[in-house]
Amino acid sequence: MIERNTQIIFNKKVASGTFLMGLRSAEIMIQARPGQFVMIRVGTNTDPLLRRPFSICGTRGDDLFLILYKIVGKGTAIMSNAVKGEKLSVVGPLGRGFEPPEPGRKTLFVSGGIGVAPLVFLGQAAKNNVLFMAGYRSADEIVPMEQVGLNLTDISIATDDGTAGHPGFVTELLKTHLTGFAEDHPKIFACGPLPMLKQVAALTIERDIPCQVSLEANMACGLGACQGCAVRTSKDSNKTYYHVCRDGPVFDVNTLDWESL
Ligand SMILES: Cc1cc2nc3c(=O)[nH]c(=O)nc-3n(C[C@H](O)[C@H](O)[C@H](O)COP(=O)(O)OP(=O)(O)OC[C@H]3O[C@@H](n4cnc5c(N)ncnc54)[C@H](O)[C@@H]3O)c2cc1C
Ligand code: FES
Repeated sequence: MIERNTQIIFNKKVASGTFLMGLRSAEIMIQARPGQFVMIRVGTNTDPLLRRPFSICGTRGDDLFLILYKIVGKGTAIMSNAVKGEKLSVVGPLGRGFEPPEPGRKTLFVSGGIGVAPLVFLGQAAKNNVLFMAGYRSADEIVPMEQVGLNLTDISIATDDGTAGHPGFVTELLKTHLTGFAEDHPKIFACGPLPMLKQVAALTIERDIPCQVSLEANMACGLGACQGCAVRTSKDSNKTYYHVCRDGPVFDVNTLDWESL
């Protein structure tokens, strides 16, 4: 874990309210693994006081790491106005990332909204045999994969309002796929809003399909010190709580108590 003053190399809009930021730090880039995150101090003054957590969305060249973010409040609005050359204080890489997909095994990525970010990074490391199912609220929110550095051919889109791809939730695409291609014995990786992850967990646990999810909890410290990100574990675990920042953010679906989430 490193704290660095990183320079913004680019900060460009890639979809409605969604930006891709390239930050320079060779140390963070070299250590970054898919599923890990960084804590960013979004401004130079004390408002907002707390750093904000963001998944690492990929790396580029010798010393850049990428953040894909959506404007949802004050901190992300400030980030969207930052320009090339400005510096941001970044702590990371933090947390436990994804266990990599097995080569040759069918792999399904399921994302909801900005949950696409960590899966883009994972997809860069595992190009073959991956079907990426990405759900958005509407067509204007679709993140163009090639713009964020992922050249996959097998991508299925779902939109809640039916303006692109499958009309409805991305979990409906997943269910159809799991029903039609059960013999594929796929492995699943998912990130998105909690209601989506609950659906993914239900679909995979009942079919005994291996699945890793990346959770987005509210985080104050990102370092395991504040207890703010605690989630209940499943009954089989020898712990009662996990800290999403330190034990996750990536978990095997079977290790979490989904009813309490
Ligand atoms: C491990 C992790 C990885 C993340 N990766 C990304 C990413 O790659 N890209 C991205 O855009 N966002 C990501 N997030 C969410 C991101 O941290 C929040 O969107 C950000 O902190 C909001 O800051 P803000 O000041 O703009 O909004 P605030 O003013 O703090 O909040 C605005 C709204 O967003 C909600 N919100 C804030 N933080 C979270 C959160 N952690 N989870 C769910 N809802 C939240 C608040 O409840 C509120 O409704 C991640 C969160 C975690 C925990
Ligand atoms: S965010 Fe403080 S313990 Fe996890």
